[in-house]
Amino acid sequence: MNTGIGDSFQKETKYIRGKIPVSGRLWEPPPRTDKSYPECPRISLPPPRGQNGPGLWETILRRRSIRNFSAQPISLDQLSQLLWATQGITHQGRGYFFRAAPSAGALYPVETYLVINRVASLEAGIYHYQVGLHQLAQIKMGDFSRGIAAAALNQEMAAAAAVVFCWTGIFARSKWKYGQRAYRYIYLDAGHIAQNLALAAVGLGLGSCQVAALYDDEVNHLLGVDGQKESILYLSVVGHPYP
Ligand SMILES: Cc1cc2nc3c(=O)[nH]c(=O)nc-3n(C[C@H](O)[C@H](O)[C@H](O)COP(=O)(O)O)c2cc1C
Repeated sequence: MNTGIGDSFQKETKYIRGKIPVSGRLWEPPPRTDKSYPECPRISLPPPRGQNGPGLWETILRRRSIRNFSAQPISLDQLSQLLWATQGITHQGRGYFFRAAPSAGALYPVETYLVINRVASLEAGIYHYQVGLHQLAQIKMGDFSRGIAAAALNQEMAAAAAVVFCWTGIFARSKWKYGQRAYRYIYLDAGHIAQNLALAAVGLGLGSCQVAALYDDEVNHLLGVDGQKESILYLSVVGHPYP
């Protein structure tokens, strides 16, 4: 029985054998998969270096949601490694720049913004990850720790974390191929990215917690995205676990 918009969405975006709709706009040129901020100053990140850490099975075993963080900043090397693990380019071929996390149709609809609270040698503020260049664009500088915590339903861990990863979706990228079904895929993409972050954090001796309890438009406003063409999907807080 359908009781709401979610039920209707699930039903109306099903693939049924022999009835797959032509729902995308494939006759148009494919959308770009990278957002740029040409007007913003950019910071080059140190190259990601796979550092020694626990093996995969131990990393999976050790991952827990961590909600208490010490005031110790994380290093720029650690931030670089975390970003690479989430969205870094790991392979080039067949005209694609493939990334660390899978993406439906290699359309990469998810953009990464960072609310930097405490990262060594980075001014506090809001940054955007320029995937292709492995750089950060400085969007606005200042202390946004209280703002992001308030927008995350007043969850204090977002203010205490060294950095808050904020993932938005640019819906048109995936709708180009998948129409309304794209919304399923965009959230799945974000889940893969967040899991990579959670495991990479363990690998670096850091802790993380995934956060979907958020006031969408408050986060959108903080990041400067319109909430329609591009909107927040998911957050993750990262820092040194409180000893
Ligand atoms: C989609 C999703 C949303 C979540 N949102 C929050 C949140 O807003 N606040 C929070 O404290 N934990 C949040 N969590 C973390 C879960 O509470 C946590 O994963 C769960 O309790 C299992 O514990 P574990 O991660 O330590 O295995 C979220 C996890 C997921 C996967």
